[in-house]
Amino acid sequence: MPVHPLLATRFSPLRFDPQRTLTDDDVDLLLEAARWAPSAGNSQPWAYFTARRDEPDHKRLVQHLAASSGRWAPSAALLVVTMAHRYIEDTDWAYSDFADYDLGQSVAHLTLQAHAMGLACRQFRAFDLDALTTDLAPGPGWHIISMIAVGQAAEERPPDRERRTTTDLRTAPWSGGL
Ligand SMILES: Cc1cc2nc3c(=O)[nH]c(=O)nc-3n(C[C@H](O)[C@H](O)[C@H](O)COP(=O)(O)O)c2cc1C
Repeated sequence: MPVHPLLATRFSPLRFDPQRTLTDDDVDLLLEAARWAPSAGNSQPWAYFTARRDEPDHKRLVQHLAASSGRWAPSAALLVVTMAHRYIEDTDWAYSDFADYDLGQSVAHLTLQAHAMGLACRQFRAFDLDALTTDLAPGPGWHIISMIAVGQAAEERPPDRERRTTTDLRTAPWSGGL
């Protein structure tokens, strides 16, 4: 049995259709998918700051992009800033080991939901983290982790995508892999 088509056909484009727009319902649906991800102790330690291309906050985010992401991310219909809440209130834990892990799962849900809606996502770290953190000023314990460009892909999935083998996934830690 092959991998499910939703997984097999997902890819991260570097070109987005600059005409494509998203409705309020589209954005809500993406966050709805993100909401239902599993997390350690059901802590749900994630948050998303969203700005569509025609919203004032879009310019605010674009100014913090790196030169590389600045070439393609602004034309996506939606920019998303992802945040993890690493600190656990009412416990003596310094921080949760799983907050970033949980956020990643939530982003994976969002990404696949987008793909199911005919959209595509490119996650990225190519932005000025310090400047964006100062600008958005998330509350105590919150950390900006990544951004996501979401929109209509304006290119085909590359035919030459590569992945490590399943054998390597099982053996790398003991065989000098990676
Ligand atoms: C946490 C994270 C950070 C990433 N940062 C960048 C980035 O800064 N710039 C970029 O062009 N792509 C970035 N990517 C996209 C990856 O390069 C891409 O997912 C990977 O090459 C696999 O391609 P695929 O998603 O099409 O399968 C990032 C992806 C993730 C998950």
